[in-house]
Amino acid sequence: MAGYLVDDTRKVTTHRLFEMKQSGKKIAMLTSYDYSMARIVDGAGVDVILVGDSASNTMAGNVTTLPITLDQMIYHARSVVRGVTRALVVCDMPFGTYQVDPQDAVRNAVRIMQETGCDALKLEGGVEIIPAVKLILDAGIPVMGHLGLTPQSINKFGTYAVRAKEEAEASKLLSDAKALAEVGCFAITLEKIPAKLAAEVTRSIAVPTISIGAGGACDGQVLVVHDMLGMNKGFSPKFLRRYADLYSVITDAVGQYVSDVKSGDFPNSEEQY
Ligand code: KIV
Repeated sequence: MAGYLVDDTRKVTTHRLFEMKQSGKKIAMLTSYDYSMARIVDGAGVDVILVGDSASNTMAGNVTTLPITLDQMIYHARSVVRGVTRALVVCDMPFGTYQVDPQDAVRNAVRIMQETGCDALKLEGGVEIIPAVKLILDAGIPVMGHLGLTPQSINKFGTYAVRAKEEAEASKLLSDAKALAEVGCFAITLEKIPAKLAAEVTRSIAVPTISIGAGGACDGQVLVVHDMLGMNKGFSPKFLRRYADLYSVITDAVGQYVSDVKSGDFPNSEEQY
């Protein structure tokens, strides 16, 4: 089935994303964590589906992304892959699976690729993780970087405020982005940093930048699907645009069902054998 706005139904590759940057075509990315949502998101024409470790929040109800395990990410990614035909599927490497030892990182990366069938991995961090990124790339696995507000480091930051407003952090972020691009990352997610800095990073590297709260100059945008569909009432950062109010839609539908069951209206004579 052709996507909502997409005539080109070929599978998206990392090379296609690079071409999109070169030709000025914007990249649309969203998260998904399960088969049913991934089918809808893919069918609607999203270019990249991220199996984010935000599954820890949206799926499991944890406060941070830290508790989600490798096995749990593999379960989510495998379910997503089954629902996707066109989008590039990127899976987050969860906290603790790549920071300790680069050899461990490549073993965990290989496990995710083999057991899920996803297309690429995303890792948070700058020059500190370059040894792990290099080994993963050497194993033939495409890597997306992630800089700025990296949620796996929330305990170090102590706040979800905008990152890299100060010169020292901004200049480290720019050199981290250059290092990740030079080593071979195919794209870099920039989370919650000033739009001006994100624009400079985007101009300075050959590979696409994907923004979440990093402004419109980036080569693409990503949102957490539950947030943009309005399934999550309490979360309203400035960067979030809500495209639906599924919280109300689902509450109304479920409320109507409860009322129909209680009144004996459901099932009616047509809805039984
Ligand atoms: O886990 C996630 O959903 C992410 C996005 C916020 C980019 O990493």
